[in-house]
Amino acid sequence: MALEVIRSIRAMQKIADNLRMSGKHIGVVPTMGYLHDGHASLIHAATTVSDAVIVTLFVNPMQFAANEDLSRYPRDFEKDCRIAEDAGAHFLFAPSVEEMYPKGFATTISIDGITQKFEGVYRPTHFDGVATVVAKLFTATKPHIAVFGQKDYQQTLVIKRLVADLNLDIEIYIQPTIREPEGLAMSSRNVYLSSEQYNQALVISKAITLAMNSVQSGNRNREELNSILRISLLTLENIEIHYAAAANAETLEEPYMFSENDSIVFLVAVKIGSTRLIDNAVWNPN
Ligand code: PAF
Repeated sequence: MALEVIRSIRAMQKIADNLRMSGKHIGVVPTMGYLHDGHASLIHAATTVSDAVIVTLFVNPMQFAANEDLSRYPRDFEKDCRIAEDAGAHFLFAPSVEEMYPKGFATTISIDGITQKFEGVYRPTHFDGVATVVAKLFTATKPHIAVFGQKDYQQTLVIKRLVADLNLDIEIYIQPTIREPEGLAMSSRNVYLSSEQYNQALVISKAITLAMNSVQSGNRNREELNSILRISLLTLENIEIHYAAAANAETLEEPYMFSENDSIVFLVAVKIGSTRLIDNAVWNPN
């Protein structure tokens, strides 16, 4: 089936109602476009657990602060359509800013706790924008399941919180981060990197691998794990570390020592030149 592009919320809702009435299981993959193999893997995952797959494409102004890269965020609508269709999507929901935030729009969904740390420190309004737009994308597409990438780890926790707190009847699937052959996590923002910066950015996944190896060999001391991350990142001179930290993978708490049963997430955000990159990996006890 050829990909159908939908621009209006009302039209999307009608399609979703009809799909539901004919017994179809709807899967949604929310994106901001400039799709790459990471997105394709999310779309493909959605096809394996739903009958109708909707990719949403909306560069959400509400999750960018004034000093961030909204105006230069990369876009390529034709390519996005091709990638979405090839990966198995049936619908591409691509509303305008005016459609999503018409004059008079005044609602913000704000989630406490897990939003305050890490990304929340550097991007204090970001998760309000994410939670609000994801709730709107859910009411437009009426999915049974929604698929997100582990690449935005803290975002996945925020979305699970949103779904639990608002009793949304939507199952959330998290798919592993897709990496370039050299280890860099795929991201639409990688396009900002020069080839020199691309090579420098490989330090991120290397640092995380070292910390993963250390926890695997029994180290549960958070400060030591954090030092492993920082020391390896700082082998790069022009890096600006926003955070490089081990935390409880479910709560983002940062105990002095992790317990034997804790799942641990290593979270990294750095700036290389003017490009901000994030990455993470989760270590599970068994
Ligand atoms: O992860 C993203 O691309 C965005 O934060 C999302 C979930 C599509 C909301 O705009």
